[in-house]
Amino acid sequence: MLLLKTRKDLISVLSSQSKGKGLGLVPTMGALHQGHMALVKRALEENDQVVVSIFVNPTQFNNAEDLKKYPKTIQADRALLGQISDEIIIFAPSIKEIYSTHVHSNSYDLDGLDRVMEGAFREGHFNGVGTIVEALLNLVKPDRAYFGEKDFQQLQIVRKLVENRHIPVEIIGCPIVREPSGLALSSRNTRLSKQLREEAAFIYKTLRMAKDKFGTESAQRVTEWVKSQFNERPQLTLEYIEITDEATLTPIQRKQKNKKYRAFVAVYAGEVRLIDNIALN
Ligand code: PAJ
Repeated sequence: MLLLKTRKDLISVLSSQSKGKGLGLVPTMGALHQGHMALVKRALEENDQVVVSIFVNPTQFNNAEDLKKYPKTIQADRALLGQISDEIIIFAPSIKEIYSTHVHSNSYDLDGLDRVMEGAFREGHFNGVGTIVEALLNLVKPDRAYFGEKDFQQLQIVRKLVENRHIPVEIIGCPIVREPSGLALSSRNTRLSKQLREEAAFIYKTLRMAKDKFGTESAQRVTEWVKSQFNERPQLTLEYIEITDEATLTPIQRKQKNKKYRAFVAVYAGEVRLIDNIALN
């Protein structure tokens, strides 16, 4: 297993590799769990060379405390990746290596995909995500890049960015991996107390029930119902619930037969912010 820290080393390793089935990239911020590993496993199946980047990208954090508390577990990450293959290339650059001395984001026009939900509540977040994803795609030049539906809005934004900038890469979305309780795996889950972690299982339980209701009730009624459910849980604070068109992420007006819809939530469990989503039809 190679752990590379500089662009120069990465470029020289990649250019010396022959490409048969192709090169896959899995961008991460580390603190790896089985959600990340599902992406890596898929990348290993579909490519003969896989780069996993581990970089806690400062420009996508709108909250300094969240950035400071973001878990950094590079040795454990390396061991976890080593369990599934010793041929993965880990790219773990420093902030300086990526941003030089000027830590800033580019500004993207993303057809409004970045103005709702995470974009509305986390100012500048998607410009930061776009900046690092574009930088990694340009550096690694993968044939395929893997993203989780856990961050469904991010996935759609990356698709749009790649289309707008004509970056020749296939973006592959992978299903959400959950704990047995239904809680979506997240690096932030490690910051939850045992009790809050149990309580947080309520998020997916509610999304599942919202999905059932969506079959027979209006989106507005389902939204109101979800809000009322969270109102009864003092340990969980719902920041938003949105039901949107899956492609445009615009809020649903009236259900249309040929469209796909998804429900999205952001919830505070104590001071830990969790997001989740579910396909409704
Ligand atoms: P991070 O939160 O580390 O997630 C890396 C990738 O793993 C993302 O594509 C995310 O959607 C996916 N992922 C996380 N939890 C998952 C789960 N439970 N099931 C399936 N996939 C899951 O997302 C980021 O990092 C950053 O924004 C990044 C794209 C790396 C840019 O900095």
